[in-house]
Amino acid sequence: MKRKIEMVQSTGCVRLLLLVSVAAQSASAISYGLLPNGNFEEAPDESQMNGTRVTGRYAIPKWEISGFVEYIGSGQKQGDMLLPVPEGAYAVRQGNEASVRQRLALTPGMHYSVTFSATRTCAQSELLNITATPEIGEVPIQTVYTSSGWDSYSWAFKGKRSDVSLIVHNPGVTDDAACGPLIDSFGIKTLQSPPSTNDNLLENGGFEEGPYIFPNTSWGVLVPPMDEDDYSPLSPWTILGYTKSVKYVDAAHYAVPGGARAVELVSGMEAALVQEVSTVPGRSYRLEFSVGDAGDGCVGSLSVQAYASRGSVKVPYESQGTGGHSRASLEFTATSKRTRVVFVSMAYTMKPDGTLCGPVLDDALVVAIHSHRRFLL
Ligand SMILES: *[C@@H]1O[C@H](CO)[C@@H](O)[C@H](O)[C@H]1NC(C)=O
Ligand SMILES: *[C@@H]1O[C@H](CO)[C@@H](O)[C@H](O)[C@H]1NC(C)=O
Ligand SMILES: *[C@@H]1O[C@H](CO)[C@@H](O)[C@H](O)[C@H]1NC(C)=O
Repeated sequence: MKRKIEMVQSTGCVRLLLLVSVAAQSASAISYGLLPNGNFEEAPDESQMNGTRVTGRYAIPKWEISGFVEYIGSGQKQGDMLLPVPEGAYAVRQGNEASVRQRLALTPGMHYSVTFSATRTCAQSELLNITATPEIGEVPIQTVYTSSGWDSYSWAFKGKRSDVSLIVHNPGVTDDAACGPLIDSFGIKTLQSPPSTNDNLLENGGFEEGPYIFPNTSWGVLVPPMDEDDYSPLSPWTILGYTKSVKYVDAAHYAVPGGARAVELVSGMEAALVQEVSTVPGRSYRLEFSVGDAGDGCVGSLSVQAYASRGSVKVPYESQGTGGHSRASLEFTATSKRTRVVFVSMAYTMKPDGTLCGPVLDDALVVAIHSHRRFLL
């Protein structure tokens, strides 16, 4: 018996060494794309399954699991309900306290954003705990935003080590052990700091730098609310709210006012897009931004409310759902050294198919208004 344990331990060690050397070789490899077997299309061996339940810790290639994890094929049902597989033919379902993990070789000091798809399977509020050791965060997957039943989510972190474990954990405790979210399609991207320009006090005002969007997914990526000390996938923009998200959209699949990316405010007043800028108290500034629709069939009277210092403006936008935008502005006088610029959508809007939608925001700009003519020259 003792001998057996020693053997298990030494194979564990060999595995660890192998992983470390693989990690060392590919230390600079990650920049963006699908993680190895990130879409779970490489299946576990039948011998390491009992029905849909995965029994072997290392049964799913490139992943390590613990707890009640199921391997779900498309078309699979739970009672009468079809379990939706977001991408390809397979996904993984995490029961109570289950987790899946994969080791990532990263560059310490760089920021990364992880994108993955998830869906709830039982009618309850669900949450995923996501870790990139030692950073940890929470991703609420309570609200279903798209009619397909699943959404893509993003979560960002600063790489603290070159060898990081990405762990996705379902902290839920429900009566049915199998009752947990389905996850699929893990991708990653290095986040660059957007170049700061002298003409715009806001950084990343055009939202060009943000979470990874799989080129072949047409439903955008949600950016969930975050704690103040978390790194934002849309940095330095942060999302403030309780559980509701904003949606990051790409020009390949949506109408985007400028550049290749924009933000669709899909959660009404429950998720605010916020950035702080350095200001001089007493000085006047002008905030400018584009409001439009994403060309995604979101029809109706949309509106965006912007706040800066003591000023605010409500910008109505009549959407035909076919794309288009207009420019709006707000002049304000700073009252402190830091001024918060805040955007929210004034109402929830929904497409006929049930997908949540809203106004698109892009190309936000804050400039100082100089009172002396010579500054204009
Ligand atoms: C498979 O699971 C069932 C219950 O879910 C259990 O009764 C059975 O013993 C398991 N089979 C194996 C080989 O572990
Ligand atoms: C993650 O899950 C654990 C429970 O397993 C919980 O205590 C913790 O608050 C969760 N969130 C974070 C950010 O650690
Ligand atoms: C989407 O692209 C990924 C690679 O980035 C690929 O593995 C996957 O099969 C594609 N999915 C579809 C539905 O085409």
